[in-house]
Order: sequence, then structure tokens, then C-alpha cells
Amino acid sequence: MSRNDTIAQLHDTAPHITAGVASADVMNLGAAIRSVEQAGVRLLHFDVMDGRFCPALTFGPAFVKGVRTRLLKDVHLMIAEPEAVVADYVQAGADLVIVHVESTRHVHRCLQALGEMENVNDPARGVLRGVALNPGTPLEAAAPLMDDLDAVFLLAVNPGWGGQAFIPATGERLTRLADMVRRSGRDILVGIDGGITQVNIAEVAALGPDIIVAGSAVFKGDDPGANARALADAARRGGQSGQSAGARP
Ligand code: DX5
Ligand code: ZN
Repeated sequence: MSRNDTIAQLHDTAPHITAGVASADVMNLGAAIRSVEQAGVRLLHFDVMDGRFCPALTFGPAFVKGVRTRLLKDVHLMIAEPEAVVADYVQAGADLVIVHVESTRHVHRCLQALGEMENVNDPARGVLRGVALNPGTPLEAAAPLMDDLDAVFLLAVNPGWGGQAFIPATGERLTRLADMVRRSGRDILVGIDGGITQVNIAEVAALGPDIIVAGSAVFKGDDPGANARALADAARRGGQSGQSAGARP
């Protein structure tokens, strides 16, 4: 499937849950991922952290490659100077690579390089390119990159750990970002990442994101699939209400 068809399909069937596998039980990782696959989730979110760009250290390309799944591998690079290693994550099977605008002086060059790389899962699709903005980064940081982007993610927590509380100001940022993308006339997916729970997901979904990252809310307890289904149902309801009311979280 081509890049454009993939983006259009994700848009048309939004909002999507992308399951944050860093929150999964490592002693039951395969079963947890299968459970999420069977719940109809389309994307698996890999939080790559290097202990420099953000305090925690998680996993690298070998882990991303080692996870065998039919879900789209959504790889969130919370690492310094990602341009040096982004090809390793593409070789590991990343379908979407998200780099932080704060993590390199050359984010545009990094996106250009990504645009040249082949998707090892489906050469027709290319590698989808995303940027992520930390809670303190102005939305305008994404504006100069729009020609080289397929997704913009807002962090609703300061990167580092799962299970943190959603930063309330992110709601207004999400509304403004969705509007910025709409006005740009480009086919860019809007994502939100961090602090999403069963309690707030409907209100967040009403603000128009296409992709919602959920780590601990999916992988807590012993039935990630059931958690994912409940989150997706609430997100769908929220997304429908947002089309009419434009609720605020
Ligand atoms: C920032 C990561 C998020 C987050 C997800 O730390 O990018 O993906 O950990 O975990 P939850 O959904 O538990 O906040
Ligand atoms: Zn993430």
C-alpha cells in the first residue's frame, strides 16, 4: 500500500490507539502484543529512550526488530542526535519514525534522510515521518517541516516514564495543532502521546487527534486486549462528539 493510501486510511478510520509496548509486562511480552493485535489495534508504539535526551533508558533497534507483529511499528525516538542512528530503526522495521524537534540541530535534514529510506516491511509505503514536540515546545516549531512530514505528535507528559499525568495545557495545544494542520491543507496525521487513560481519552479524542498513544492504560493488569478495546471504544465516541461539539478536556 502506498504512503498516501496508508495516511488516508489512518485518517479515515481515526482515532487510532497506538499501544506503548515499553509499558508491557516483559515476562509476557509476546502474549501481551498478541492480545493487543486481536483487539484490532493498528499500531505498536516503541518508546526508544537513550538516558540523555530524556532520563530513562529503554531499548534499541534489536528490540524493535525482535518484535514480530503485523501492526505498524511506530518508533518514537527520544534520543539525542537521532540522525546518526535513524537508519538502524528503519532497518529494524519501523513503519513510522518520530523524532523530537528538540533532539537535534538538524531535524529537517533528518526528515529529508528518512524520506529517502525504504520501508523494509513494504517498499511501496516508504517510511512515514513524524516529529514530536515536548510540552514546552511551541507548535510553530513544526511549521517549517510540514512539507517533509506525515505526522506531528504532541507530548502530553515530559518524556521519560509511562504512567504520568496528562498535562492539561495539552488540550488547547492539540486543538491549535489540529487547526494548523487543517489550514495547511496537507495530509498530516495528528498524534498525542502520554497520560492517556480510560478517564480522559474520550475528551482528548474529541479534540481531533488521529493517533493516541496509550502505554500503561493498555498494558496494565492482565488483559491488554480488553483495555485496548475499551480505550478504542471511548476514543471513537469522543471523536464522534468532537465532530459536533468540539468538547474541551
Ligand atoms: C513519554 C512516552 C509516552 C508514554 C506513554 O514518556 O513517549 O509514550 O510513556 O506511556 P503512558 O501512556 O503510560 O503515559
Ligand atoms: Zn511515546
